[in-house]
Amino acid sequence: MNLLEVRDISFSYRDQKNLLSHLSFEADAGEIVAINGSSGIGKTTLLKIICQVIPTIFHGDLTGNVFINGKNIRNFSLPQLAPQISLLMQEPENQIFLPIVEQELAFGAENLCVPADEIKAKISNTLKLLQIEKLRYHDTATLSYGQKKLVAFASLIILSPQIFLLDEISAGLSKKHLEIVINVIKQLAADGKLIIIADHLDDILKLADKTINLDQHNV
Ligand SMILES: Nc1ncnc2c1ncn2[C@@H]1O[C@H](COP(=O)(O)OP(=O)(O)OP(=O)(O)O)[C@@H](O)[C@H]1O
Ligand SMILES: [Mg+2]
Repeated sequence: MNLLEVRDISFSYRDQKNLLSHLSFEADAGEIVAINGSSGIGKTTLLKIICQVIPTIFHGDLTGNVFINGKNIRNFSLPQLAPQISLLMQEPENQIFLPIVEQELAFGAENLCVPADEIKAKISNTLKLLQIEKLRYHDTATLSYGQKKLVAFASLIILSPQIFLLDEISAGLSKKHLEIVINVIKQLAADGKLIIIADHLDDILKLADKTINLDQHNV
């Protein structure tokens, strides 16, 4: 049984042309999978389907199913889904909503009733890992685009889901932070996480064990 199975997904936004048709693939723990293809082809849409943001929040005509460890996640509750899969959104403004970085990073773990001292330690370790310790007490509204991406990535790492969906994680990063993020992605995969990345950058795409090219799929 595969950790993730995407089976026969077809999708169109309401009254729009078909974006994805009969897309299937499988992926396992420890793998890095790249989703590539030209702008507007449906990479972000596919990631939203894999984590059920579509159809839960955004609607459209969706057929097909997503399975985690053989279980259809269509009917999973949020508490069932959250430990399994998390999405780093393409637009970090949609992800970050608390005023201070530390509060933002604590939020998910607080909801899972993780003890406060454990949360503090997780935050310290993750900020160190991504080399953004100096952002801990920053106002989230004043962060740059790339800093927001890093904070959003940190919040995923703290939650430590089995499957990471990373949408354009390289956007807005300095060269130094791109290198750090690449190493962290490799480390997460080595620790047994499944990483699925939509990106334009070769430095990121070349990390992949497997590539789903939506341009080829949609011809
Ligand atoms: N909520 C929505 N309602 C209607 N159409 C949408 C919606 N979100 C995206 N689209 C359209 O669906 C298509 C695919 O969008 P998507 O964001 O999945 O592409 P992408 O491959 O991620 O593009 P990019 O490389 O620019 O991030 C685009 O034409 C986009 O305009
Ligand atoms: Mg996109």
